[in-house]
Amino acid sequence: MATTIWLITGANRGLGLELTTQLLATSPANEVIAACRNPARASDLHALQASATGRVHVVPLDVSSEQSMRDSVRHVADVLGERGLDYLYNNAAINPAFDSPFDFDYATLLDVLQTNLAAPALLAELYYPFLLRGDNKTIVNVTTGLASLGLDCGPKCTSYSISKCALNMLTYKQARTRPDFTCICMDPGWVKTALGGEGALLETADSAAGILAVISRLTPADSGKFWRYNGTQHPW
Ligand SMILES: NC(=O)c1ccc[n+]([C@@H]2O[C@H](COP(=O)([O-])OP(=O)(O)OC[C@H]3O[C@@H](n4cnc5c(N)ncnc54)[C@H](OP(=O)(O)O)[C@@H]3O)[C@@H](O)[C@H]2O)c1
Repeated sequence: MATTIWLITGANRGLGLELTTQLLATSPANEVIAACRNPARASDLHALQASATGRVHVVPLDVSSEQSMRDSVRHVADVLGERGLDYLYNNAAINPAFDSPFDFDYATLLDVLQTNLAAPALLAELYYPFLLRGDNKTIVNVTTGLASLGLDCGPKCTSYSISKCALNMLTYKQARTRPDFTCICMDPGWVKTALGGEGALLETADSAAGILAVISRLTPADSGKFWRYNGTQHPW
């Protein structure tokens, strides 16, 4: 059986963990390289490893560290062998401040840009040779409705919104550079996670199921678009 191989960042909790769980449950062909910054404490991923033998590989990856991102290639290459990578799913992100344009912390802004923008950019460059060898050649950059100018979301979460808006532009550039790849922005919706908060509208299971349904239908013609978990699209 041909395998479909996913690399998911920030896979130890929240949506990354839920996506990993659903991928393993929905098809025996799915194999997940679950990246997280502290594998020793990723107990949920280790539980998944025990139940889906050989189909979950937990690798260390701190996306705020250039060295860790570069080091991750060795771990992933060991898992892949001669095989290619089908999906790079850039999920890890932070939203540490409910800030605004005239009241923000400069160091926090730089941290947010590093984690939410520079990391997905570097990871796409580092894993490009592996994606070239894969069948699906897909990059999913997880963004948010807050990154849409068209939705006019106002000043809230300025640093986070800026970072994700720039990630959208990166996605567009990736799509236009490689028409044979599928590179998309994905908004998971407002989801009950540590990042989304208790008051969010969606359960992680519903968001993740929607995301995987959208991804399963993607073709290169869908590349460079700003998708939502429910299959509709956001305005840029
Ligand atoms: N939840 C929502 O309502 C919502 C809405 C729109 C978009 N999104 C997007 O959806 C994605 C997933 O968010 P979530 O809601 O699942 O958030 P979450 O529950 O807070 O999980 C965030 C994940 O990112 C990881 N992470 C953060 N910084 C990292 C770093 N430097 N290196 C490695 N991993 C790091 C965390 O790992 P640790 O456990 O090690 O901290 C965790 O696994 C994000 O891109 C977010 O922007 C979420």
